[in-house]
Amino acid sequence: MAGFAAVGALAAAARAQGAAGSFAVVGDAIPAALTGASAYAADPARGRAIVMNRQVGLCLLCHSGPFPEVRFQGDLAPNLNGAGSRLSEGELRLRIVDSGRMNPATIMPAYYKSEGLTRVAPAYQGKPVLSAEQIEDVVAFLTTLHD
Ligand code: HEC
Repeated sequence: MAGFAAVGALAAAARAQGAAGSFAVVGDAIPAALTGASAYAADPARGRAIVMNRQVGLCLLCHSGPFPEVRFQGDLAPNLNGAGSRLSEGELRLRIVDSGRMNPATIMPAYYKSEGLTRVAPAYQGKPVLSAEQIEDVVAFLTTLHD
């Protein structure tokens, strides 16, 4: 299926980045921003662009949501509409970082994990798909999605 080949290529499409930093998981959430003590101001508009981007996020390969400008959207995963009502900011963050922690069988890629990934091109091994700043932008966007 073309879609799954595209997911396999996710890491290859990601920008070259350093290894994923450490973070604390509390229950099913990562309460603190991945950008830590830096004064990074997460931007929901940038996050929305990442979610819609077919090279960077690829989220809409599986998800649909409030993106009238995107013609083809996925039906393999829950609609992102209302994600900010269903899940807290910290819960959203952990789902983007590593959904496999909640559901080991999930097809959703881990976007901020550099160990234990499969189907990663050698040049991208050891690098997360999205940077800490990009994850924070995506989380900031998702928290705005209320039913
Ligand atoms: C290959 C398919 C796939 C891709 C790509 C993908 N997801 Fe998911 N996502 C899923 C599936 C399936 C679930 C349902 C839960 C599970 O399987 O763990 C999910 C769950 C979620 C949830 C929780 C939804 C809820 O209401 O419980 C959020 C939020 C989410 N994804 C956001 C994203 C974002 C943002 C991206 C892009 C950065 C993304 N996903 C990329 C398949 C995908």
